[in-house]
Amino acid sequence: MSLRSVDKIKSEHQNLPKHIVIVMDGNGRWAKKRFMPRTAGHHAGVKATRKVVEGCVARGIHALTLFAFSSENWRRPEQEVSSLMSLFVTTLQSEVKSLHEQDVRIRFIGDCTAFDEKLREKIQQAESLTINNKGLQLNIAVNYGGRWDIANAFKPIAEKILKGELSLEDVNAELVNQYVSLADLTEPDLFIRTGGEQRISNFLIWQLAYTELYFTDVLWPDFNANELDTAMEWYSSRQRRFGKTGEQLQDTNHG
Ligand code: IPE
Ligand code: IPE
Ligand code: MG
Repeated sequence: MSLRSVDKIKSEHQNLPKHIVIVMDGNGRWAKKRFMPRTAGHHAGVKATRKVVEGCVARGIHALTLFAFSSENWRRPEQEVSSLMSLFVTTLQSEVKSLHEQDVRIRFIGDCTAFDEKLREKIQQAESLTINNKGLQLNIAVNYGGRWDIANAFKPIAEKILKGELSLEDVNAELVNQYVSLADLTEPDLFIRTGGEQRISNFLIWQLAYTELYFTDVLWPDFNANELDTAMEWYSSRQRRFGKTGEQLQDTNHG
């Protein structure tokens, strides 16, 4: 596997993203192009996911967050939903050991209470087995919705207000930030969406406030470490201003 981007970016003293988030889209269209059922596209998507996770491990990326199933994906045909659920179970069965060996910590974000017991058990096992791993922090978003995430953050806050532990004046963006998913990780630097659509589809809407957005027409099953390098090279050329002017940043860089 080529690590061209990392070497090139490092040699040019450019920035590598610490936290990458991906909307893995285009499985269905990949299958359709091949006159195969959509589920074949999802199976091919798992292979791409493996390549990208390994690519992130090899490149020393700190965190990777993958959108695997949105809270809106329940609206799909029943057969597709149930085959996706089975695929999650079998994928966890086949991949977790190797991920653990690569020092990957696996966590799930989203409302897992909606899943059947078998899947919840696999999720729990994967999380507890890898809990002390210090390598790639891999987060898998399942039955996840960005609006759900924000609404959910208000529950513990409201509870603290009711108990008198917090006052209304304490409620601000920094406080909410502590209660949304992934609060303990560095905010996403690079967002990648495959499959050609240029939308967020209710992914990490709070967390993406200052993330660089990269869209590619490549369908998810065709995505690989090389495509990841292309996205990382694009990222390294972005100037992240966080509200400041380009001139201010030049001054800081040279001062
Ligand atoms: C993304 O691929 C995978 C999931 C949403 C689970 P799609 O299944 O959305 O693929 P397209 O967009 O129909 O091609
Ligand atoms: C977003 O893709 C969700 C995942 C990749 C899991 P969708 O294919 O569901 O998004 P829309 O419906 O096209 O916005
Ligand atoms: Mg799609």
